[in-house]
Parts: sequence; C-alpha cells; structure tokens
Amino acid sequence: MNSQIFSPSYPESRMRRLRKGDFILRMLTESNLSTNNLIFPLFIVEGNGVKEEVSSMPGIYVYSIDEILYVAEKCIDLGIPTIALFPVIDSTLKTNNGIESINANGLIPRTVIEIKKRFPELGIMTDIALDPYTIHGQDGILDDSGYVLNDETIEMLTKQSLLHASAGVDIVAPSDMMDGRIGIIRQKLESNEYKNTIIMAYSAKYSSAFYGPFRDAIRSSNNLKKGNKNSYQINPSNINEAIREAAADITEGADMLIVKPGIPYLDVLTKIKEKFRVPTFAYQVSGEYSMIKAASLNGWIRNDEIILESLICFRRAGADGILTYFALEAAELLRKNN
Ligand code: PBG
Repeated sequence: MNSQIFSPSYPESRMRRLRKGDFILRMLTESNLSTNNLIFPLFIVEGNGVKEEVSSMPGIYVYSIDEILYVAEKCIDLGIPTIALFPVIDSTLKTNNGIESINANGLIPRTVIEIKKRFPELGIMTDIALDPYTIHGQDGILDDSGYVLNDETIEMLTKQSLLHASAGVDIVAPSDMMDGRIGIIRQKLESNEYKNTIIMAYSAKYSSAFYGPFRDAIRSSNNLKKGNKNSYQINPSNINEAIREAAADITEGADMLIVKPGIPYLDVLTKIKEKFRVPTFAYQVSGEYSMIKAASLNGWIRNDEIILESLICFRRAGADGILTYFALEAAELLRKNN
C-alpha cells in the first residue's frame, strides 16, 4: 500500500486533530473491553473457611469450596461469564502417575458440582493436565529416564476430561501439550454423549518462567524443583511450531484456542487469530500478574490504568477474551468507568 495516498503531509494532516478531546477519542476507539471478555482463574483447596493469599500473587487467594461460592457469586454480579478452576492438591495425594486426577470424588469434580448447584448459569472451565497431582510436578507420566510419556499420559487426560464433563464442566482445557490429545479427548467425549462439552486447547503454550507464581500457588514448585517442561511446551524463540500446534488442535476438534503467556506473546496471538479465525484467548499468566502487582504495590506504576491498558492490548492484538487474575479488579473498574 502506498501510504502517500492515505496520509498527506503536515499541515494538511495533523494526527493530533483526532486526539483533541474526550469526545473524539471515544468516537475513534477501535478495540473495546467488556466483562464478557474475561475469564477468572481460581485456585481451590480442601477444607472449610479457607481463604489464603498466594504469597507471590498479592490479592489472589486459594479458596475452599464453601468460600469459592462467594467468589462465583461475585463473578455473576460483575458480569464475568466464566471461571477457570485449578486445584491445590494435598502432597499426600500426589503420586508418580497422578492417579488422583481421575478420582470421581476428587476436589475438582466436587467443586464443579457445588458451583453448578448454586450457579448453573456460570461457565466453568477446568484444566486438563497432571501437574497438580504428580510428585514430580510434570504434566504427564514419566518413564524411567524422566521423559514424559505422550500416549500413556493421554489415556489419563482422556479419563480426566470425561470425569470433568460428567461433573458438569462446560469447557475442558487441556494444558499439557501432549501430541494428539485433542483428537482422542474429542472422540471420547462424542462417544460418551458429551457432545456439547467445549474443548479450549492450550495450543500455543510456551515453556515459560512466567508460570513461577502459579506453581507456588498450586504447590508444585517443590515437586518440579529445578526441572523444566521443555520436552513438551514450546521454545519461546519459536512461532512456526505454535502455528502448527494450532492447526493440529483445530483439525482434531478444538473449539477454541489459548495462547500463553500473554503480553510477551502477542505476536503469536495475532498470527494464530489471523490465520485460523477461530475463537482465540490469551492467558495473562501468574508472573505477568505478579510483576504488575508488585510494581503497583510499590507505587511505581498506576495499578488501575495498567490493568485496563494491558487488557485492551490483548483485544487490539486479536484476542476474543483473556484469562486473567485481574478479572475481578478489571470488572469492577469497567463498572465504575461506565
Ligand atoms: C499446568 C498449567 C500451568 C499454568 C496453567 N496450567 C503451569 C505450567 O505449565 O507449569 C500456568 C498459569 C499461570 O502461570 O498463571 N498445566
């Protein structure tokens, strides 16, 4: 495109004319953020009356089931359509193969049932992966050399997906990055009458240090120790793989995709959205939350403005929505600003 045609030079063109005041700024706003775009990730633990702050995520708590019901109600009040549940599993229940992940009476199925009983209209999404349940903190089952076994892991993930679907989950979100898992999970959901269970695939999940505070929250940091997830999550320097992962997941039956982490990976988000045009979500992950929170608690940046700015950037880059620990705060700000 020849930019001369569209942009005469100064003084015929003064870009600042269109930034002259609030009325014109509002008229020309290209991207919008609404509470409809937000998914709130929540940490859940056994017990009663538990509301414990995650030390590396000020303002974010681990809740017991009774306490999470208040949060669920708040989400509904604020217009947040969906929550994403992550379990904090007691260390005595962690094993080599993460078998607790398919316990029908486990923490996640019980939480889902309780929330759905009170608030059937609230969308619930659950993570499909083994890391909260394994003693080594990896997302799958290991062989003797410590390598994560693909196909054996998928068997467990498929059972986990069916269990969550039977508990009433609306969206299952495999975050494990095993090859071929979406196809097998979709096939099993279909043949078990869970035809409308949505699959939101973590297609472009990078092997990222931005997940640190999340691993503290679900208490898997001590399990993972110095280990990493490089044999299944994507190398941060690569984008071709992310596009191939997205293509594979869509072909296998994913309804929606996630790109993760968020802000540092907006280029990946934009590429995938432009290429496939399927609902594509960004995950503003724990480390991103902690960096913003730490700086704003120190008075180094303006909390409210940074939250809204970071979220609108996801929308501008093409995200249909954002999983963000700021969901409650952002929804309150959006309500106040309207
Ligand atoms: C694990 C999982 C992780 C996150 C969501 N699901 C961490 C990991 O892969 O180690 C990270 C979320 C966050 O950092 O906020 N299946």
